[in-house]
Amino acid sequence: MKETTEIYENFFKEKPKYRIVSPGRIDLMGIHTDYNEGFVLAAAIDRATEACASPRSDGKVILYSENIGAASVFLTDNIEKAEKDSRWSNYFRGVYKFLIEEGYEVGGANIAVNGNIPTGSGLSSSASIELAMGTVAKALNNLDVTAEKLALIGRRSENEFVGVQTGIMDQFACALGKKDNALFIDCRTLGYELAPLDMNEVKIVVFNTAKQRGLVGSEYDTRRKQCEEGAAILGVKALRDIDPETFERRKGELPEVVRKRVEHVVYENDRTVRSVEVLRKRDFAEFGKLMNAGHDSARDLYEVSCPELEAMVEISRAQEGVLSARLAGAGFGGCTVSIIEKDAVDKVIPVIKKAYRERTGLKPESYICNASEGAHFTEI
Ligand code: GLA
Repeated sequence: MKETTEIYENFFKEKPKYRIVSPGRIDLMGIHTDYNEGFVLAAAIDRATEACASPRSDGKVILYSENIGAASVFLTDNIEKAEKDSRWSNYFRGVYKFLIEEGYEVGGANIAVNGNIPTGSGLSSSASIELAMGTVAKALNNLDVTAEKLALIGRRSENEFVGVQTGIMDQFACALGKKDNALFIDCRTLGYELAPLDMNEVKIVVFNTAKQRGLVGSEYDTRRKQCEEGAAILGVKALRDIDPETFERRKGELPEVVRKRVEHVVYENDRTVRSVEVLRKRDFAEFGKLMNAGHDSARDLYEVSCPELEAMVEISRAQEGVLSARLAGAGFGGCTVSIIEKDAVDKVIPVIKKAYRERTGLKPESYICNASEGAHFTEI
């Protein structure tokens, strides 16, 4: 990736004051559990949105994106949604809008951004951008704001400004990730615990199926509504409140499709809670089984997989040394996440990619990922 300082200097003809790094994330456990106020296990990764920034005194925000190859300008006292070619800037604009609306004193800025997270692939490029923008605001304006609050502002921006009804997992993992650790998040209380991701024995490998997916207009909102319907019938605030025993006793009350969705969420929550202890014991074989069970349930009961993801998962799991393969993020295309024994990594990656290309005609990519720090900044 090109140096972000250089990009900034070329565009603004001055040196930046701050450098911001905001990671993407992988999710290991908890598929579609976050908006059911359930549990997830996720980690920030070493693919990120970077920004270089300096304050301006005129209330103007000039934002240059290297990935888009364009700039967008707005005023902090009147932040509106951008249209057409500038729509990409809404992920940035929304964060500033809601920070200001929630009482934070945020001035103008020169900002250059640059990133290496593939977009629309399940690695949370959008949450990473939102946290980058929140961290720019924090650095430039010396804001007294916690990482949790920036995560909530990021999600609010995505939900209310961009208009995508995601849960809190992505923003939370991008904000609070810790190097060499996964984050076990209670999506109701936003309490979290760290679970070490010891990479001496295994590696986390992401395969990009090269099948684009879109969250807006996808089945995501339908799934949310089906879960809400299930919770309403069972008389609870969210599906997080249903344990497997209660589900088995009362599943007859649910219409067929809703029953399948609820079954996935209830058992996936249960698996996610169990996975933390398994990870702490460094029992990667057992951990891989839980990941695989989560994927299979997401495919069969939650129905968020697709032929390309299935091809990648099936090919991956057939290789010796591959302990797991599951869809990343919302599903419907994008990436898979695998845990692979360290010594097998170099051998299996080319085999998996070749077999996938032969089967689908698509050109996959792979990224070996390390668990990294959440969004942070340094003064230059
Ligand atoms: C997307 C959303 C998350 C979460 C996952 C599914 O990544 O942004 O909030 O719902 O899908 O687990």
